[in-house]
Amino acid sequence: MKRRELILRDEPRDDLTQHCARNREGRVRALAHLLAMLVAASVLLTEAAGAEPPVIPQYAKDKHEGVSSCDGSTCHGSAAPRNDRNVMQNEYSIWVDEDRHATRAYKILLNRDSKRISRNLGRKKKPHEDSLCLDCHADNPPMNMRRTENNAFRIDDGIGCEGCHGGAERYLRPHDSGSSHAKNIELGLYPTDEPVARARLCLSCHFGDRKKFVDHRLMGAGHPRQSFELALFSILQPYHWEPDQDYTKRGKQAPNDVKLWAIGQAVAVDEVLDAMLDPNRNRLGIFPELVLYDCQACHHTIDKQRRWRPRKSTGLGPGVVRLNDANFLMLVQAVALVDPGTSKKLRADLRTLHQATSEGRGSSEKTAKAIRSKIAKLLPRLEKWKVDAKVLRKLSKNILTAAVDGEYTDYAGSEQAAMALQSIVYSYYAESMIDDATYDSLEQGELSKLLGTVEDPDTWNPDRAKKAFKSLQAKLSGI
Ligand code: HEC
Ligand code: HEC
Ligand code: HEC
Ligand code: HEC
Repeated sequence: MKRRELILRDEPRDDLTQHCARNREGRVRALAHLLAMLVAASVLLTEAAGAEPPVIPQYAKDKHEGVSSCDGSTCHGSAAPRNDRNVMQNEYSIWVDEDRHATRAYKILLNRDSKRISRNLGRKKKPHEDSLCLDCHADNPPMNMRRTENNAFRIDDGIGCEGCHGGAERYLRPHDSGSSHAKNIELGLYPTDEPVARARLCLSCHFGDRKKFVDHRLMGAGHPRQSFELALFSILQPYHWEPDQDYTKRGKQAPNDVKLWAIGQAVAVDEVLDAMLDPNRNRLGIFPELVLYDCQACHHTIDKQRRWRPRKSTGLGPGVVRLNDANFLMLVQAVALVDPGTSKKLRADLRTLHQATSEGRGSSEKTAKAIRSKIAKLLPRLEKWKVDAKVLRKLSKNILTAAVDGEYTDYAGSEQAAMALQSIVYSYYAESMIDDATYDSLEQGELSKLLGTVEDPDTWNPDRAKKAFKSLQAKLSGI
């Protein structure tokens, strides 16, 4: 994980906290309303249960109208937020100035790093013209799905609005004249507010999917490793939306950070398993695809610092390449508080998976499929999870205990645990479990130290990380 800015409350978070508190009432009302609607349409409900997940915008069948169709000053290009409207209307201004999807994602394809990656791979096209790169570094729908009149759609806009919100062909006019959120979704708007759908969308680029993927060859050519956590990355994007009262009244979901985190982990595990099961992605020559494994299992110096140490949950001995199970390790922590029985089973599954993939004992395919079906059943339960002070306390306690026990001695595991604790500590604050002074001292002290230890995989040291987990544990134990 690169050094990321810590979450400062004076940034968008302050409003968020207040909104979260104010929101609760609105959410209950919105839910009651939704329930009534669902009961009335129970036929639809049965259909919806088997419904296909929404199609990722790049692959859906709606033309992309281009950012120029959204950026008008009376549309989403207002310079300042408008509080008299449902949405702030300054979404474009935030995106174009602060969002890496606009400021960097496409532009870096023109730089030396990208040219080198492309050259190393022997690609014929330049990176900014190569679909291999554009699929993730821009909104890259097929040519016939772009509004070309008046140069409306521009690939060099980077990951524009429709890269996440879906091609606007059908919803552009209606949503402009006040159609409901549900209607807009029907007309091709991607449900970015639904945490499972949002996780799939972000991960389609921040991990990859069946059509695009950063494999070990791309990494070998110089592509950075992928690292993602849904709650934290949503904040860092940064927010160009405000989950205020009217937001939930319009029938949109406003999941809190810990719920987003848990669902993000569940979907990430599902995507990793999908890659393991996908014959186009799970092999590189005679080897299994190496990005699915712990990078440091191979990429470390042969010295005392990195001396092998057992990780109980894997049941593996020294000298074998371990799966990268970082998301898995977080998922079992969340599930332990929602359904302890399933969490236990998932731990056993993970052990079986480790043994099958790393030591060739048993079928990894069968285990991967079993885990995916458990996740499918868990997702709706995680969506209904009530995250309160008690849950937060247990969650941080359990993650810290596991960390101190040596469960996160792989870099990626430590990195995910550190990102999780950041979201949890923020939730402590949002739930008024800690005051300003305590939050500040955590943020500038223990939390900052912990995040510092996972800043760079090359200098990462499991003992230093463990010490940092320990001091956060001591600080949180009395709260
Ligand atoms: C599956 C999606 C995907 C594909 C395919 C992909 N990238 Fe990336 N790339 C990303 C993501 C996501 C990041 C950001 C990683 C992070 O910061 O966590 C990134 C980061 C980068 C960076 C570092 C960016 C920076 O800010 O310093 C470079 C350079 C890069 N990619 C070049 C390329 C090139 C060149 C190609 C094609 C040969 C390519 N990428 C293909 C998703 C992808
Ligand atoms: C990387 C993905 C991404 C990109 C790019 C993106 N958005 Fe969003 N947007 C989101 C997410 C996530 C949300 C929060 C969930 C929601 O409200 O649907 C959101 C919310 C919104 C909202 C809802 C606000 C509300 O109160 O209901 C609007 C309006 C919006 N975005 C407009 C835009 C516009 C305009 C652009 C382009 C200038 C853009 N977005 C680019 C992901 C993105
Ligand atoms: C179409 C592909 C795509 C989608 C969809 C996407 N991203 Fe990204 N994202 C990228 C790329 C590429 C970068 C790297 C930009 C750069 O060079 O820094 C990036 C960068 C980011 C960064 C900055 C990372 C850093 O290192 O500071 C954040 C935060 C982020 N994305 C969050 C999200 C979230 C949250 C979602 C889902 C709502 C999302 N992204 C969806 C491709 C995508
Ligand atoms: C099973 C062992 C193994 C795993 C796991 C593995 N790699 Fe590698 N990696 C290698 C080997 C072998 C090479 C080729 C070394 C060479 O060319 O000298 C390599 C090369 C690389 C290179 C190019 C290094 C150079 O010298 O330019 C990068 C970058 C890289 N890997 C990144 C990663 C990342 C990131 C991960 C985890 C997502 C990972 N690797 C996982 C074995 C592994």
